[in-house]
Amino acid sequence: MAAFQLLFPLILSCVAASARPPRHLPACQVVQMDAFCSDLSLRSAPADLPHGVQMLDLSRNQVQNLTQKTLAYHTGFHHLNLHSNNIHFIQPGLFKDMTDLKVLDLSKNHLNVFALSKINIGPLTAVESLDLSNNGLYTGMSDYFLADSPSLANLSLNGNSITKIAQNTFSGSSSLRKISLHNNVILEIEDGAFDSLDHLTELDLSKNSITCITDFNLCNLKVLNLSKNSMELFHSTASTLSYKLLHLDLSENKMPYFPLLPRQNMLEYLDVSRNHLQSINVMGSLEKKTNVFFYYLKYLDMSYNQLKSIPDSFFYCMGSLEVLNVSNNCISSFSITNPGLLQTVKIINLSYNSLQSLTFGENTMQSLEKLFLHGNDLATLDHQMFQRLPSIKHLQLQQNNLKICSSQENHEDPPGCVSFAFIRNLQFLNLSENNLRNLPANAFANTSLMLLDLSLNPGLDMDKDSLSGLEHTLIHLLLSENNISSLNTDLSSLRSLKHIDLSTNQLTTLPMWNKDSSIESLNLQNNNLVTLESSTMLALEHSLKTLYMGSNPLSCCSNLDFLHMVQHSAVVVPDIETVTCVHEEYSEPVNIEKVTQEMCHRSGVQNYVIAVVVIVCVVMIVLGLLVKCFHKRKRKHIRSFTA
Ligand SMILES: *[C@@H]1O[C@H](CO)[C@@H](O)[C@H](O)[C@H]1NC(C)=O
Ligand SMILES: *[C@@H]1O[C@H](CO)[C@@H](O)[C@H](O)[C@H]1NC(C)=O
Ligand SMILES: *[C@@H]1O[C@H](CO)[C@@H](O)[C@H](O)[C@H]1NC(C)=O
Ligand SMILES: *[C@@H]1O[C@H](CO)[C@@H](O)[C@H](O)[C@H]1NC(C)=O
Ligand SMILES: *[C@@H]1O[C@H](CO)[C@@H](O)[C@H](O)[C@H]1NC(C)=O
Ligand SMILES: *[C@@H]1O[C@H](CO)[C@@H](O)[C@H](O)[C@H]1NC(C)=O
Ligand SMILES: *[C@@H]1O[C@H](CO)[C@@H](O)[C@H](O)[C@H]1NC(C)=O
Ligand SMILES: *[C@@H]1O[C@H](CO)[C@@H](O)[C@H](O)[C@H]1NC(C)=O
Repeated sequence: MAAFQLLFPLILSCVAASARPPRHLPACQVVQMDAFCSDLSLRSAPADLPHGVQMLDLSRNQVQNLTQKTLAYHTGFHHLNLHSNNIHFIQPGLFKDMTDLKVLDLSKNHLNVFALSKINIGPLTAVESLDLSNNGLYTGMSDYFLADSPSLANLSLNGNSITKIAQNTFSGSSSLRKISLHNNVILEIEDGAFDSLDHLTELDLSKNSITCITDFNLCNLKVLNLSKNSMELFHSTASTLSYKLLHLDLSENKMPYFPLLPRQNMLEYLDVSRNHLQSINVMGSLEKKTNVFFYYLKYLDMSYNQLKSIPDSFFYCMGSLEVLNVSNNCISSFSITNPGLLQTVKIINLSYNSLQSLTFGENTMQSLEKLFLHGNDLATLDHQMFQRLPSIKHLQLQQNNLKICSSQENHEDPPGCVSFAFIRNLQFLNLSENNLRNLPANAFANTSLMLLDLSLNPGLDMDKDSLSGLEHTLIHLLLSENNISSLNTDLSSLRSLKHIDLSTNQLTTLPMWNKDSSIESLNLQNNNLVTLESSTMLALEHSLKTLYMGSNPLSCCSNLDFLHMVQHSAVVVPDIETVTCVHEEYSEPVNIEKVTQEMCHRSGVQNYVIAVVVIVCVVMIVLGLLVKCFHKRKRKHIRSFTA
């Protein structure tokens, strides 16, 4: 049975093959001297390749033996792409006469099978870039390809199974500039393995199993990637040579101590995120660290470690730092008080620590634009804290326990509150999830706030003037999940406001808006709205593009304007499925789209009849009274006349 299952598809494919017209090579696309023959089920290059072809793309075909014949006896190639074939044999000496061949891509083949035969492929006379990635090569196998490759500058051995870099691995390829060994299982690098490579500037050893580098001495290297290994230690030699290293990625390792970097370094980018750092000291000793200066460092990522504190002396010699990420550690106090410190830093990410105290001195961090402090335990701050940061634009303070002061110093302000007024460049402020109780008047006056998130502060009491000063700047306002039953803050004066989120509150009426509003998206989901004020809906209609209205106890027949808007205007209601309304004739809420004018017509007629009856009655009563009155007057008149 099993055999039959196997045979059946085979038979089918034979039938299909015999049904095809006699063997005819599908045409490659030829553009000038470049031939594109990718994905055409070819076993070799077509015989009719134009003379002088320089680039041949034979990727994703079925080449098995790479010989002069499979390349149709052409030798003038500059660029050969044989990615994703079945190559398990290469004719020795094949590339010897290809004196123009610069780029050779042999990735995703079965060169491990060829390597088992222990034959060298012969000289790669002119090849500068060689891709041997994903070939199942293991330790020593690369030798058969690299033994004689004097021009090779760029080599990829990514995605193989190499466990050791031997001392002689690259001895036949001394021009190498860039080596990628990403995603192998390297455990060991023999001493001196890269020493003969004077031009080596880039080395990617990411995703291997390296546990330590003890005497790092590659002075000419510019980029070193050791991310995703099992590194517990990184030590440079104690030499006073100057190192050219610019980029060092040590992320996702197991280092308990800060790496010991070359004393004379030009490092610009250092990533030690996702390690086990418990302190910024090297080997837990203070004096070792102070020997190393980072004059050029621009980017330092120490996020996802176990740091408990960072003394400000750590930053003394980082006069170029622009980005500092220490998020997701256990820092409870962060203080930069020394004047002149961190003058170039633009972004500081301190999110998700356990910060309770934060201090910035005068004249520190004068270039800081973005400060991320979310997910901490901040409850009290110096009240003019952020006014000292003249460039600050973006503040993320959500998930803390802050209190907000009024714009002028005021004895009624809660102790430890922080002021946001007069932070002139502030554009983005997230204060959601802070258990905010009060929002005083003019809280954000004299800022440039464009986005303000005050969501998830249930019970927030907003002063009616709390948003004054934001009339011409505020574009996004988020007030969801605040348990607001009526907004006493006037939103109609916020002329720039385009996006507002009022979802998950207890609103029973819409905020007032007039024709000057420019609201484009409005979220009213999950409130207590029964009737939508028609004048407000009409005022909104000219600018509104998106409206969320689900989960409200709307009444079907008192919202015919809204119904009309949903059915006839360009406003998109993304949650229309959940917009239901209550109709007296149905026990269950009805989807708003199913409501028709007629459903409300009958009750409309009834109302009309009642109204007519009432009017007629009133008119009759008035008429009756008038008639009576007239009669009386007439009588009076007559009486007086007779008198
Ligand atoms: C490929 O080369 C090997 C060894 O020279 C030979 O045995 C085999 O038949 C060749 N296969 C094809 C498909 O040409
Ligand atoms: C090096 O080779 C890789 C893979 O073939 C290629 O992506 C990269 O652009 C090459 N770099 C240089 C500088 O030639
Ligand atoms: C280092 O390698 C990792 C994994 O391949 C990659 O995600 C990261 O971007 C590389 N780092 C640098 C600085 O190029
Ligand atoms: C702050 O750092 C964390 C972890 O490193 C990262 O996930 C987050 O995106 C960063 N935040 C910002 C706003 O860049
Ligand atoms: C650290 O924060 C910086 C800036 O916020 C960000 O660019 C980087 O991606 C973060 N690092 C990680 C590991 O998320
Ligand atoms: C503000 O922070 C909250 C997390 O509490 C997040 O869900 C929200 O998306 C942030 N707001 C903005 C506008 O980024
Ligand atoms: C602060 O803003 C108000 C308007 O909200 C303006 O009248 C006042 O002049 C501003 N104060 C300063 C010092 O710029
Ligand atoms: C929400 O407000 C109502 C009164 O409007 C109050 O009874 C309720 O406790 C509030 N809920 C929260 C979580 O503050």
